[in-house]
Amino acid sequence: MTASQIAASFFEYACIAVASLLGVYAVLLALLTTSTFQSHVVYLHAIQMTWFKDLNVPETFGFRKNQVTPFSIKTPDNERLHAWHILPVELYRKHETSLIDEPTGFVTDIKSRLAFKLLRDDPDARLILHMHGAGGTVASGYRVPNYRALSAGNPSKIHVLTFDYRGFGQSTGSPSETGLIVDALAVVDWAMNIAGIPPSRILIFGQSMGTAVAIAVSKHLALQDTPIVFAGTVLVAPFVDVATLVSTYRIAGTIPILSPIARFPILFKTLQRFIRDKWLSRDSIAQYVRANEQNGEKYRIAIIHAEDDYDIPWHHSQLVFWHAVNASIPAGISYEELEDKKIDAKADLGGCWVYDALENGIWRYSRGDFEDWLA
Ligand SMILES: *[C@@H]1O[C@H](CO)[C@@H](O)[C@H](O)[C@H]1NC(C)=O
Repeated sequence: MTASQIAASFFEYACIAVASLLGVYAVLLALLTTSTFQSHVVYLHAIQMTWFKDLNVPETFGFRKNQVTPFSIKTPDNERLHAWHILPVELYRKHETSLIDEPTGFVTDIKSRLAFKLLRDDPDARLILHMHGAGGTVASGYRVPNYRALSAGNPSKIHVLTFDYRGFGQSTGSPSETGLIVDALAVVDWAMNIAGIPPSRILIFGQSMGTAVAIAVSKHLALQDTPIVFAGTVLVAPFVDVATLVSTYRIAGTIPILSPIARFPILFKTLQRFIRDKWLSRDSIAQYVRANEQNGEKYRIAIIHAEDDYDIPWHHSQLVFWHAVNASIPAGISYEELEDKKIDAKADLGGCWVYDALENGIWRYSRGDFEDWLA
């Protein structure tokens, strides 16, 4: 083979390789327009990460015997959500002997259990409703240590309720935007009407995809004829909406999904039309704030986001916060104007954590002191 023949065949193979890659990408894009595949990409619910462990044996995940009660909450459309009620550690210690006498495992009648009574019958009990992110189950990854951190604000009083949305873990059904909102509302209903905890003692905590659920539910309840507003809504790594998120999203921070397409606005807009579950958090948070301002309701929002988050760029939080602040000011405020004001108010927290909080139109940076919202 001459040098030019080698060059020609190399070129040929390179062309075939590029064409196949483009072909695979085109197939991926076509698949993304189908709602089943799309829901797997958005919710990642098939990726359980706790595959060989039993979610009804929470002790496997480092809890004390019967510190967690696994049970289920039924939705109005007949799905069963697998949930965990987690006792705060000090309260557990106090009642340890009676608690370990009870049977372990999944509980069909939660009302018969001591742990439940400790929540329901304590007029000072606080409850955090935890809404997890995409993928995994109630027990995956750092979710478990996170539950402990949440009740550490008052280890005798702060209970945590966490659950798997429909299609996740052991819950029935398959996920969708409307479905997840129905799920979260069913959990709120359980907290208020079965456990009997008033909204002033409930905090909504959402992480990543769970922030979209938390915002949607907070908005839904605040806009009702009889508004319900919780002690606070804490958002960890929120995003403005799914379409904006996918324009920058990379699997494991490296493999882009739609960012190559995002450079072609017409093509990207066409693809965006196929996005079934939009999760318009920036609009919902604005509606939530406006409703509360109009009703004179006390509301609190805290946003927490790592500056080096590669799944959901930190910029999303800045935008979500701006939409919330803008809605709290009758004349509105421009993004630049708010950023300028923030420079003056900003505290150096010496790490990658930045907190934005809004409390009845008053915004501030804080050092995670939303715990006093439940105090
Ligand atoms: C900001 O608030 C003003 C006044 O309520 C409103 O007219 C405007 O649409 C809002 N801006 C955004 C980007 O939502």
